[in-house]
Amino acid sequence: MINRIFLAASAAAILLSALPTGAARRNFPAFIGVAQCKKCHESDGIGNQHKIWSASPHARAYQTLSQEKGREISRKAGVDDPTQSLICLKCHTTGGGKTEATRTEGVGCEACHGPGSLYHEFSNHASFEARENSYRKAVSLGMYPILGYDGIKARERLCRYCHTEERPCYPESADERKRQKLPLGLIADFIFKHPLRRR
Ligand code: HEC
Ligand code: HEC
Ligand code: HEC
Ligand code: HEC
Repeated sequence: MINRIFLAASAAAILLSALPTGAARRNFPAFIGVAQCKKCHESDGIGNQHKIWSASPHARAYQTLSQEKGREISRKAGVDDPTQSLICLKCHTTGGGKTEATRTEGVGCEACHGPGSLYHEFSNHASFEARENSYRKAVSLGMYPILGYDGIKARERLCRYCHTEERPCYPESADERKRQKLPLGLIADFIFKHPLRRR
């Protein structure tokens, strides 16, 4: 426990001296990019979510667009360059391709947890003593309320915003459609395998 507090506190100190960018100073939440979250969330002491994410399909979502399958789907959808088109970036990167900081990162932390410019500082979203309070504060500063059982409905809406049948890459074959279906069980099971894969 002591170790975790120390780790977090020193990470916070480093970060506070390293930031504020223009986005962080404004008082509406903006996307700041995975690298900002990585500063603390690559620590094993708090679960190294960055490492888990890096190995997950979400981290590859932008690269996928320029691979063979991505180009084929683009041709059919009448899209010239999927890596430049908001039609694809809408779901294949954080912030729908509308912010430079996250345009090429794939489905990053903030795609699911919300734009972090206001909550990313330690004291605005984390605490080892009063977790509920810090989470509430974070939500008031732009974090999406998708955690825990209380957040399941919001979480389902979030996942299904992208995991929908209404997308140019929705497969034609019935088998593949079935494979790509995201059952509620999988969405709710997140607690055991963050951020998850199918198998
Ligand atoms: C200054 C260090 C630091 C930075 C930067 C940081 N976090 Fe955190 N975050 C923490 C710590 C420490 C915890 C508490 C972990 C625990 O309770 O085990 C935490 C907890 C969380 C939680 C759990 C909910 C909560 O409020 O406790 C989420 C979600 C989260 N962070 C997302 C992010 C995202 C997304 C970013 C980037 C936009 C980010 N964090 C940037 C240190 C940081
Ligand atoms: C911003 C859009 C977006 C959101 C939000 C999102 N996803 Fe995804 N997800 C994707 C994309 C795009 C891929 C495909 C990445 C690739 O293969 O390049 C993907 C891939 C996946 C996969 C892997 C599929 C496989 O091939 O095994 C799973 C599982 C998944 N998402 C679950 C979820 C869950 C659960 C949530 C909600 C907590 C969620 N996603 C939220 C866009 C999103
Ligand atoms: C509404 C959200 C959304 C939009 C818009 C979207 N995608 Fe996807 N895409 C997804 C999700 C979600 C997955 C993951 C499906 C799975 O594996 O479960 C995915 C998967 C993919 C895959 C890998 C899966 C496969 O079928 O091989 C490719 C390639 C792809 N998308 C290309 C594109 C291209 C190109 C565009 C733009 C023309 C696009 N997508 C637009 C949400 C979207
Ligand atoms: C596809 C969506 C998605 C992405 C991408 C994602 N998360 Fe999460 N994350 C979740 C969900 C859903 C939960 C809630 C798990 C629960 O409540 O059981 C969660 C939980 C967390 C927690 C709480 C503690 C834990 O480990 O369960 C932290 C911290 C966190 N995420 C940080 C991050 C960071 C940092 C990144 C980027 C490196 C990231 N997440 C990327 C969906 C995502």
